[in-house]
Amino acid sequence: MPVDAAETRLLSWLSNRRLNETVRMNSLANKRILLGITGGIAAYKSAELARLLGKAGADVRVVMTPAATQFITPLTLQALTGNRVHTELLDAEAEAGMGHIELARWPDLVLIAPASADFLARVASGQADDLLSTLLLATRAPVALAPAMNQAMWLNAATHDNLRVLAARGMQIFGPAEGEQACGDTGPGRMLEPQQLAEKAAALFETGLLAGLRLVITAGPTREAIDPVRYISNHSSGKMGYALAAEAAAAGALVTLISGPVALPVPERVRRVDVVSAQQMLDASLAEAPGCDIFIGVAAVADYRPASVAAQKLKKTAQSLKLELVRNPDIISTIASLEQRPFTVGFAAETEDVDANGASKLQRKKLDLLFANHATSTFGSDAITASALWSDGRATLGPGNKSLVARQMLALIHAHYLSLIHTPVKS
Ligand code: C5P
Repeated sequence: MPVDAAETRLLSWLSNRRLNETVRMNSLANKRILLGITGGIAAYKSAELARLLGKAGADVRVVMTPAATQFITPLTLQALTGNRVHTELLDAEAEAGMGHIELARWPDLVLIAPASADFLARVASGQADDLLSTLLLATRAPVALAPAMNQAMWLNAATHDNLRVLAARGMQIFGPAEGEQACGDTGPGRMLEPQQLAEKAAALFETGLLAGLRLVITAGPTREAIDPVRYISNHSSGKMGYALAAEAAAAGALVTLISGPVALPVPERVRRVDVVSAQQMLDASLAEAPGCDIFIGVAAVADYRPASVAAQKLKKTAQSLKLELVRNPDIISTIASLEQRPFTVGFAAETEDVDANGASKLQRKKLDLLFANHATSTFGSDAITASALWSDGRATLGPGNKSLVARQMLALIHAHYLSLIHTPVKS
């Protein structure tokens, strides 16, 4: 297939996948969301949240506490959702339509945004003195709470005790964020933005592109010891590998991240195995290979290590020092050559002839797919453009931040993985 045709076909395929924030909310289509609004200034943002949920295809019904109606009118929410807004527990007319027990049975998700400190306290103690708290007692649907309050109220031990109780009952807590508050304070307690809340709600329904697949990802640099205090290493920040691990876990994969020394937190739902040297990374990779469906080598593995490691710190007595270096094992080639090999994906950071050098690495290392990019513009940076190369095609991914490009990479990996598992893997 001509390169251009392959690229066009791939990009149109990719554009139908979950490549950006809007597409990511696909999982909300046809979902029933009961949006509970309690009394707080952030209630004005709930109008936008209701609109975003509806735009993503959800059927939204709104329940407001009496205090919430002081901040935003039920009419606004009714206009945005196309559904009657419920406010009263003891309302004969409403009970004749969708009564409170029916309403409690209706949703796939109850999302309370904003959830005031008072509301959290009432739910934690199991009260049912208004429609919304009654619904929370009666519903079997999952519940997500988006706290919003003054920073001192948020930091109060009573609020934290209540949240601990609610989280222990299986309720999801979305946020809060930190920053400027309506009262003039700055600190934690701001409600997350509507877009963030809609995405978090969508994530609860994700079955995931990579659901159930086992991914092993190497990331970061390796360090090769010269003596007890010195080492050889490189500038890899680990950001690309960590972004891939985070996005793969969000897409439902079971992810093991074999990481060299980096200053990054472990992404949610990812199992991290810490290593220092190339040899340790190889040992960990071989230990994780059985049962691995997809192996992605993002690590910038040091190609050489000192032939011997001095037992004591080297003294600077001589005017010059010669270090003898020996080649490190090639981890990804070793994995790609295993008899039971996973689908194997490499990376190549090049300083010149990016595509040509990448293509020769793809072949030499027997990889299924390789992402090549310009080393100087990538190391430590948050943005990336990459060439995706495979045996008979290529595509350009990005430019975009590493999370966005990571999602594009995973969509592509998944497409190639699926076509490969239907045909015998080449040796
Ligand atoms: O040969 P080069 O280092 O450019 O190849 C890059 C690819 O090979 C990356 O996927 C990297 O993680 C992997 N690699 C490896 N072991 C090495 C060197 C590179 O797994 N010793």
